[in-house]
Amino acid sequence: MSDRFETHEHDVLIIGAGGAGLRAAIEALGQGASVGVVSKSLLGKAHTVMAEGGIAAAMGNVDAADDWRTHFGDTMRGGKMLNNWRMAQIHAQEAPDRVRELELWGALFDRTEKGQILQRAFGGHTHKRLCHVGDRTGLEMIRTLQDRGVQMGFDVYMECTITRLLRDGDRIAGAFGYWREHGRFVVFKAKSVVMATGGIGKAWPITSNSWEYTGDGMALAYEAGAELMDMEFVQFHPTGMVWPPGVQGILVTEAVRGEGGILRNKVGERFMERYDKQRMELSTRDVVARAIYTEVREGRGTEHGGAYLDISHKPAEYVKRKLPSMYHQFLELADVDITKGPMEVGPTCHYMMGGIRVDAETAQSSLPGLFAAGEAAAGLHGANRLGGNSLSDLLVFGRRAGLAAAKHASTTPASAVDAAQIDEAEHEALAPFQQKQGESPYAIHRDLQDSMQKLVGIFRNKEDLERSLGEIDKAKKRLGRVSVEGSRLYNPGWHLALDLKSMLTVSEAVALSALAREESRGAHSRIDFQKLDPSWGAKNNIIQRDGEAMKLRQENVPEMPDELRSLLAEEKGETARRG
Ligand code: FUM
Repeated sequence: MSDRFETHEHDVLIIGAGGAGLRAAIEALGQGASVGVVSKSLLGKAHTVMAEGGIAAAMGNVDAADDWRTHFGDTMRGGKMLNNWRMAQIHAQEAPDRVRELELWGALFDRTEKGQILQRAFGGHTHKRLCHVGDRTGLEMIRTLQDRGVQMGFDVYMECTITRLLRDGDRIAGAFGYWREHGRFVVFKAKSVVMATGGIGKAWPITSNSWEYTGDGMALAYEAGAELMDMEFVQFHPTGMVWPPGVQGILVTEAVRGEGGILRNKVGERFMERYDKQRMELSTRDVVARAIYTEVREGRGTEHGGAYLDISHKPAEYVKRKLPSMYHQFLELADVDITKGPMEVGPTCHYMMGGIRVDAETAQSSLPGLFAAGEAAAGLHGANRLGGNSLSDLLVFGRRAGLAAAKHASTTPASAVDAAQIDEAEHEALAPFQQKQGESPYAIHRDLQDSMQKLVGIFRNKEDLERSLGEIDKAKKRLGRVSVEGSRLYNPGWHLALDLKSMLTVSEAVALSALAREESRGAHSRIDFQKLDPSWGAKNNIIQRDGEAMKLRQENVPEMPDELRSLLAEEKGETARRG
């Protein structure tokens, strides 16, 4: 029964307090909704801050020729045309307004000499398009959104993990979770729920993601009956730290390359010439990550298994001003002065292009009342995301999700939460305490990460993917026998045991979708199907729960209207002429 537990009620419940969640909260509050924001962690601690180098918006401040059409074309081509075209159009059209709005709310961007917001180059963007604050753009954005939201007055529930979504028949009714500090349960009733939980990086051992990113939002939505889409597309950012081991995977912003950083292998070759002669270091992330991986695999890697990234040819004062975090990060963590010598870098699991399938206009999932925005949602980025498009994504679609969630709540009667669902959620959450001397959650997690890295990494093939599904199946069985010691008072083993369910669900969805897609496209590289196959270009992989089974089907990518298609054709001609 819900009255056995602490209960909170809101029109709109937002799960996740990164950029997408905060932007959704601001919009829903603006519509007069009562809004609760649940954060697994602390407010302000979000993967959004890992988008360091900038926010992509066609403002045209540095390259006057830029406009939304070019941004749309770059996003579609970067995503290998698998993107939801309508999301890509909305994103490119609305991003500049979202940036200006952020500035009005107090974000302090770097400036051009004329006093406009400064923009820098990034991979796959035709023009200098990334509005930035040194290499701390995501941080400035979170700070601004947090100030604005807190001032407007949402309720924040920090260090609270949601383990289940609650339904009322075919619609959403709220969520069930626990307080990480003391382990007591909490029920949230809501007419609309927005998933803004970010990605799934912790299913891999080398990742820029921190402990929170276990795919909860995608897994919970899936469990509740919503569809997931294009889960095979996992982005490995080309440049994470590789040394020392304790910091492996920490992000080295693409802004280093945007500001002129050069990649070399151990014999001094500027190897990007072999992979993308035209764009070199500013090729798209999928290409650069594969290039570094290939150099290492073929024996041309650095001492610690990466590539050299060098910006020391630029004046030291310039490097410190443009890349202050990178300067301190390498000095403090690796004892390397990047104004004097190169960094060692290698691919790190960074971002999920797939996720909860949503409607482009409203960000509503296939389950009425359940919305998703930011990394938790699929569609905008297609097969590969361009750097900087994540920050603009979460502003544009965070806003749309908040707006639609508030509207939905205003026309929906209060939902009833049935006691059986809550009992079941409680029972499931406590199960790890009932087992004695079962499996360790840490061992299951380590084995899962190991198999995802080896079998579902940058390059894939049928045999490995089938093996990975076998490993996931074994891990699921082991999770059924997982046991934790101690009490519910701050108990990280218990927390991990509960997170593992989400990690296994999303890992299965990734491996299953990757096995089905018999082609190479964007971030999905099959060594047994190396070519891009036009017939697959017209299909999205959709995952949905069918009882206890995960079912996969293909659906046609929505047809692009002629005016956008011709725009892409014109753009292509224009790029070739400029090229
Ligand atoms: O490299 C970076 O600064 C990351 C940006 C992003 O993921 O959008």
